[in-house]
Amino acid sequence: MPKELLTHADVIAEEAKGAKPYSPGASKKLIDLMNAGASREIQVAIQYIWQHIMARGIMSESVSKVLEETAIAEMKHYEKIAERIDYFGQRPTTKPAEIKFGDSIKEMLELDKKAEEEAIKLYKEIISVAKAQNDPTTAFIFQEILEQEEDHHYKFSTLLDKDKAMHL
Ligand SMILES: [Fe+2]
Ligand SMILES: [Fe+2]
Repeated sequence: MPKELLTHADVIAEEAKGAKPYSPGASKKLIDLMNAGASREIQVAIQYIWQHIMARGIMSESVSKVLEETAIAEMKHYEKIAERIDYFGQRPTTKPAEIKFGDSIKEMLELDKKAEEEAIKLYKEIISVAKAQNDPTTAFIFQEILEQEEDHHYKFSTLLDKDKAMHL
């Protein structure tokens, strides 16, 4: 029976039988890893939206558009991760990891490609830790985010190749 449907007398009766009410939990290791992911999501949301504004000024409408769309996707990742941390009764971080902007379009895209590579590595680790701790929901949430990070990595790599081809 869901906890909220139990009367006080039921709870006392259940506890007397030795049954503990359900309470979601996650290891400190998993919470720390998820908070590292949350920090990275805030970092890239700000990094990409700033670059979106700068790239528009420098030259590229197409790069600028991709940066804007990706920044919004990263903010949604932060929401997903923060919700999951909150579900476990912990406080999601509000501190970004180190933001790196870059001075040229090429430098921006190189930094962004690297940020995506680091996110991919971290999220694969989170998925394997979650699975090892019998937490398929956290693993599933990060699998969905991971798929999008791989897409971001592909987009930045493609733009970087185009950029190199044009000697910009
Ligand atoms: Fe993300
Ligand atoms: Fe990403």
